[in-house]
Amino acid sequence: MVSISLNPLFVDTSRIRAEIRTLQPQIVEWRRSLHQKPELGFRELLTSDFVAQKLQEWGISFQKGIAKTGVLATISGNRPGRVFAIRADMDALPIQEENDVPYKSQHDGVMHACGHDGHTAIALATAYYLSHHRDNFAGTVKIIFQPAEEGLGGAEPMIAEGVLKNPDVEAIVGLHLWNVLPLGTVGVRAGALMAAVECFELTIHGKGGHGAIPQQTIDSVVVGSQIVSALQTIVARNIDPIDSAVVTVGEFHAGTAHNVIADTAHMTGTVRYFNPAYKGYFGQRMEQIIKGICEAHGATYEFKYWELYPPVMNDGAIANLVRSVAEDVVESPLGMVPECQTMGGEDMSFFLQEVPGCYFFLGSANAVKGLAYPHHHPRFDFDETALGMGVEIFVRCVEEFCQ
Ligand code: NI
Repeated sequence: MVSISLNPLFVDTSRIRAEIRTLQPQIVEWRRSLHQKPELGFRELLTSDFVAQKLQEWGISFQKGIAKTGVLATISGNRPGRVFAIRADMDALPIQEENDVPYKSQHDGVMHACGHDGHTAIALATAYYLSHHRDNFAGTVKIIFQPAEEGLGGAEPMIAEGVLKNPDVEAIVGLHLWNVLPLGTVGVRAGALMAAVECFELTIHGKGGHGAIPQQTIDSVVVGSQIVSALQTIVARNIDPIDSAVVTVGEFHAGTAHNVIADTAHMTGTVRYFNPAYKGYFGQRMEQIIKGICEAHGATYEFKYWELYPPVMNDGAIANLVRSVAEDVVESPLGMVPECQTMGGEDMSFFLQEVPGCYFFLGSANAVKGLAYPHHHPRFDFDETALGMGVEIFVRCVEEFCQ
């Protein structure tokens, strides 16, 4: 259990805001520099050099090369106290940027299309601010610059290499700039924020033949189609309707010609759910269905199922801390969006399995400025005003938690 005593009188919020506003042009500059040099997971060499160089310049102690390209900054207050962590991801996506902006990606086919350049800039600015205000917090703040969030899972090797230990982290926060929400809003909630991500691959082996002579074949397309439909009954009929879950078949490849019955069919897909109690369930239930249908038709199959990320589960007390601080930062309780759950996944979940914490969405869309494309879109960009808000939320969380 984490106990939190909020003491608004202790933290001088107007001072924090005024200073971060002064810092804003630099935060934007850092973000744009990072945006121009996007790098894929575990290859964030320039990014991690950029981060390390800034930390060095500011006299912040850090460790580089954790989980290949991760960086851990450690900033101690001037009094002993608790240990708090902030996590930012640094990787980009294999997308060709279509924005025509001066800070456009200079790396062909690679783009910061999810906002991780912004996360890195926010974490850097938080490090800068805290290192200049060591009297304002007790204990230690660890800032974790994580590689490879996009599917490769950089969080696990960072944890395995000890970023949460020595000194042991007591609470962790992280954010995602979020174009689903407009600028000036924050999505935060206790419990599940994002879903577990699991994946599967299925190959059905039938018996091919002439399209007009089906009696001599085992049609892998017919078998596969029944499987696709039957898999939907897991969500519709096997899990508690109060829980949310998704089974998506994303690929279905079979056949070579209109008059040939396909010998094999290949499918891939993803499963999402919030309730951790379903860990292990979907893969098992899917195989029962696949096995039954294949046997009924005399087909055989190969089925691979694996768990990528667990659900992002927020601790109640730390979510409360973030909520109370964020309400102040967005200057209105109306800016708070508690119904902000998404079936998207995030490997922040691994950190949250280790220590209590809170991951939250920072609204970053601005339709008036044309900054409302969804994440992973070649024209994705966000309103950079959100950067300062992110720093303010992080700094205030530190000053509240580490009193
Ligand atoms: Ni992302």
